Amino acid sequence: MTLPTEMRAVEITEPGAAEVLKPCKRPVPSPRAGEVLIRLAYAGVNRPDALQRAGKYAPPPTASDLPGLEGAGEIVALGDGVSNLAVGDQVSALLPGGGYAEYVTTPAAHCLPIPNGMSMAQAACIPENYFTVWSNVFMRGGLKAGERFLVHGGSSGIGTTAIQLAHAFGARVFTTAGSDTKCGVCSDLGAERAINYKDEDFVSVLKDEGGADLILDMVGGSYINRNIKTLVPDGRMVHIAFLEGPVVEVNFAMIMAKRLTITGSTLRPQSDLAKARMADELRELVWPLLDAGKLQIVMDSTFSLEDAAKAHAWMETSNHIGKIVLKV
Ligand SMILES: NC(=O)c1ccc[n+]([C@@H]2O[C@H](COP(=O)([O-])OP(=O)(O)OC[C@H]3O[C@@H](n4cnc5c(N)ncnc54)[C@H](OP(=O)(O)O)[C@@H]3O)[C@@H](O)[C@H]2O)c1
Repeated sequence: MTLPTEMRAVEITEPGAAEVLKPCKRPVPSPRAGEVLIRLAYAGVNRPDALQRAGKYAPPPTASDLPGLEGAGEIVALGDGVSNLAVGDQVSALLPGGGYAEYVTTPAAHCLPIPNGMSMAQAACIPENYFTVWSNVFMRGGLKAGERFLVHGGSSGIGTTAIQLAHAFGARVFTTAGSDTKCGVCSDLGAERAINYKDEDFVSVLKDEGGADLILDMVGGSYINRNIKTLVPDGRMVHIAFLEGPVVEVNFAMIMAKRLTITGSTLRPQSDLAKARMADELRELVWPLLDAGKLQIVMDSTFSLEDAAKAHAWMETSNHIGKIVLKV
């Protein structure tokens, strides 16, 4: 297959608001040892892309400076030592960056098959949310069947994934979201109780249920002390973002008295090996559910690659429900 030397992409011209994203031309990257080159059909849009665009989430040193952490497409070239994938395979892939482009490289170990019956657009929405939710809720947070699980931001890409996975693995799921419409979507996905945080206090709702065993939090700020109140003794809290800010005053005596575990992680800076281990668990435990149609990909909207700035502006209204994708 003859590959072009140049491709269409969208770059961050300077740190700033959505309009700093501009179409450009870039050289087609070459796969290094252990990597594949993918011609993308769709690229997923995620909040971390907006943080990177704003200059608050720098790419790791070896990653592309182009935004884009996930996508789906066809493998068009293999780096040295790749034997488990072939040119022509269609994959859904976690990317180290560079997804807002026609071609992207990523470790072969971070590629998963397109689940049965799924479109490329749906498959592009999977990796960032599934790797993040699986590693934080199950690997780090140790969620077990029968536990009460609270996820904030239930209508986000992360939230819609966390609700479905926790429900599928037998947990009782509680969630917060900012409108009744969003709460309705969360209930349809398997949340036992979706709390419109503008009308109701999640602390008292959960207190009536006996408290939360595990909380996945992306809000931080004023939620941190309220989460601590909501957790049962030996409860766990996993942070993946701080939409309301990371700095608060906390009485650590509560953490000691309740024997709480407070942790968190970001996906992107973790090693290729750590991400490959997540991919292995997802392939074994979660892909059968996707293949069987037991998990839905909640999609909000599709923009063209060149309209990435419009996609970011829409995401930052927080009016969307589920995932936004770019058609490459
Ligand atoms: N740690 C990691 O590795 C990792 C990986 C991926 C994503 N993340 C983070 O996880 C979060 C969700 O990502 P996503 O791509 O799924 O996001 P998203 O679809 O854009 O959704 C974020 C949602 O959070 C809700 N929200 C609650 N409080 C908010 C506040 N103070 N400001 C803005 N929104 C608020 C909003 O809905 P309401 O109407 O309900 O308020 C909003 O729709 C992001 O913060 C992202 O940076 C972390």
